[in-house]
Amino acid sequence: MTEPDISPASTRREACHAQATSLVQALSTPEKIRLVSGADFWHTEDLAGYAGIMLADGPHGLRKQDGASDHVGLADSLPATCFPPAVTLGSSWDTTLVEEVGAALGREARAQGVGVVLGPGLNIKRHPAGGRSFEYFSEDPVLSGTLAGAMVRGIQSEGTGACLKHFAVNNQEDNRMRVNVVVDDRTLHELYLRGFEIAVREGRPWTVMSSYNMVNGVHTGESRELLTAILRDTWGFDGLVMTDWLATFNRAQALDAGLDLEMPGSGGAWDKEVARALRRGDLAPERLDAAATRVAELIVRAHAEREARGSGVIDVDAHHELARRAAAAGTVLLSNNGLLPLAPAQGTTVAVIGAFATQPRYQGAGSSQVNPTRVDTFLEAFRTQVGPDVTVTFAPGYDAATGSSSADQVAVARDVAAGADTVIVLVGLPASAESEGYDRTTLALPADQDALVTAITEVNARTVVVLSNGSAVELPWAEAPGALVEAYLGGQASGSALADVILGVREPGGRLAESFPVHASDLPAQHNWPGSPTQVQYREGLYVGYRFHDTAGMLPRFPFGHGLSYTTFAWSRPKVTVTGEGAATQVTATITIKNTGTRAGSEVVQLYVHDVESTLHRPHQELVAYTKVFLEPGASERVTLTVDADALAVWDLGARHRVVEGGELEVRFAASSADVRAAVSIHVTSDAEVTPRAAVAAARPASLVASDQEFTAMLGHPIPAAAALLPYTVDSTIEDLSQTFTGRLLARIVRRAAGDAFGGDADPQSAVIFDAMFRQMPLRAVSMASQGALAMHHLRRVVGLLNATRWIR
Ligand code: BGC
Repeated sequence: MTEPDISPASTRREACHAQATSLVQALSTPEKIRLVSGADFWHTEDLAGYAGIMLADGPHGLRKQDGASDHVGLADSLPATCFPPAVTLGSSWDTTLVEEVGAALGREARAQGVGVVLGPGLNIKRHPAGGRSFEYFSEDPVLSGTLAGAMVRGIQSEGTGACLKHFAVNNQEDNRMRVNVVVDDRTLHELYLRGFEIAVREGRPWTVMSSYNMVNGVHTGESRELLTAILRDTWGFDGLVMTDWLATFNRAQALDAGLDLEMPGSGGAWDKEVARALRRGDLAPERLDAAATRVAELIVRAHAEREARGSGVIDVDAHHELARRAAAAGTVLLSNNGLLPLAPAQGTTVAVIGAFATQPRYQGAGSSQVNPTRVDTFLEAFRTQVGPDVTVTFAPGYDAATGSSSADQVAVARDVAAGADTVIVLVGLPASAESEGYDRTTLALPADQDALVTAITEVNARTVVVLSNGSAVELPWAEAPGALVEAYLGGQASGSALADVILGVREPGGRLAESFPVHASDLPAQHNWPGSPTQVQYREGLYVGYRFHDTAGMLPRFPFGHGLSYTTFAWSRPKVTVTGEGAATQVTATITIKNTGTRAGSEVVQLYVHDVESTLHRPHQELVAYTKVFLEPGASERVTLTVDADALAVWDLGARHRVVEGGELEVRFAASSADVRAAVSIHVTSDAEVTPRAAVAAARPASLVASDQEFTAMLGHPIPAAAALLPYTVDSTIEDLSQTFTGRLLARIVRRAAGDAFGGDADPQSAVIFDAMFRQMPLRAVSMASQGALAMHHLRRVVGLLNATRWIR
């Protein structure tokens, strides 16, 4: 039996609930309807003496906008610590560290008067080209879910709410605001929902954000299945669900399904429709009451926590140091022939090549973009650390904004490299390559970056290549350098953290949280990426990331979980015990890790399960647990990992729940998905069986990309047709309007109005994001953003007009 939680925070919570209930009882129906929509872009409505609370981005640092608001990062925000984005934190495989970063973020939020931080994001990286991959942790749900849970615990430990996003199956940016994801139930539960479940159970977030997209024909913000049956009734979520910004499709239906808060406020755009739904009995008053009570509770709770703790003062230096430590902990040493760590002797020359050494790429673009308190550069940090006795030369080699080189830049870089004892080349993706709002069209680096690496490694074999990017890239030249470091996006202290790692002041603590394919074309998801404008079919099912590579036997360039150390470790003979049966099965795995080298370092023990006998096809192996151990030279530690039945189970398509089948399993202790150090066979006892309906769909798609027939079997119903782009509906996007003359006319008018409101003085990069987001915006979102200027019933008339004139092309 679990002990009742009698901490002050939990007692406060109960008091808040009681207070919220009584406040809502005193509200009229119109007041309740108003309360469940935001007051403006970032605030909830005020409530009976409580000022509305502020919600602010984002996952790796606070983006509290000052003055004019938008959600694409165009308007300035107040300075805040820019911690490494989730891609880098994910590579740390360190829940303690992620919780610490979360706590710092929570502190900054509290100090700036923010009630809820809109993060962490934990969507699965179905395809590395996803524009927001840098904002998500991993391709694996166990790693994503546990890290997101840790981040939530950290943020909330400071009395600030966290928000898990984007629930659910928001795995691409292209067409994200309306695309319908067609995915089979098993893949949905085993891959795409599992991380959210873990994070909800382990983190107990105050809030969850529904996503823009549809899943199997239903808007996620209107899915009773997702928001009520799964999130609340099955996982026990007891917080508030808000929409993603402008994601409301039909607010009455959303409230009915279990959504609580529409964000941002739409200036009453839906109020009449909600009132009508209540009158007609389409929306039960209890549902509105429940939503209003949750909003009220969030407001009261945020105030109560702030009152109990005060605003606090931020130690900007300490947070910068934490950002630096976190960046090093997420830096992955992909290969090393002994060149690293560098110990440049007095009188030697180190050449630093790459504009990123002075203009670092340290975060991604879009709503998560933080205005940092300061930014370290590698060149400066490295020069300081090596001191005056080592000569550090520099050549930019390319333009940081585009990644392109002129012939001159390459020639200079080559000369500088040839004249040095050692070379450090910093390359990667320019900021414009990856952003919220659009996906990458290739996994290749800009051609000039590849060419630059080749040119440098040809003239100097002692070359270290460092990558700055937010997601996996193709690395055709991976064998050429003496060492290859994946620094990802390291946050504001990325420059000093990289100098620490290169010089061995800190170890590269990271392990890949995603696979690096050789070519994008190897990936099963590539066949349906990004899909049609209105639909994407997940025909690869579970075969994403290492689940694909290991099952297909197709080696990636670098596998999931891979990362080298500056020291060496010995793994003992492991032990595995099984207790319980069926759904009560528990597996306990122990192993001793010893640091056999001469430097302190960390090792990540990854536990995978390979199902030897299963009715359903399963990925070759799946991560079920992991831990990171830190060891001084010569020290050893015995680690114990426990795995419950859920992690061993499959989703039964017929019964619609998890099933643990009896039989033999292999428990694998691994240093990456491709580096299994020891395996132990176990027997699980269970009389549960998968239902015949699940078994019918059990055949593994022959090519790991389901044919029509196979996909139909996986879905359990015919493959739905993609929605047509004509006739227009309120869900049509601005881009769709280009099909007809009157559509183009309307698009121009809206573009002008939106540009005046948001994009007027945007820098070129922000303008690109703004443009992508704008093109993909559904008309209903335009109506909501117009704050009453284009009311929903007027929009419907406009759409009617567009359709009546659609023959004029
Ligand atoms: C993003 C969210 C973000 C929100 C507010 C949306 O476009 O998808 O992640 O929290 O804007 O900026």
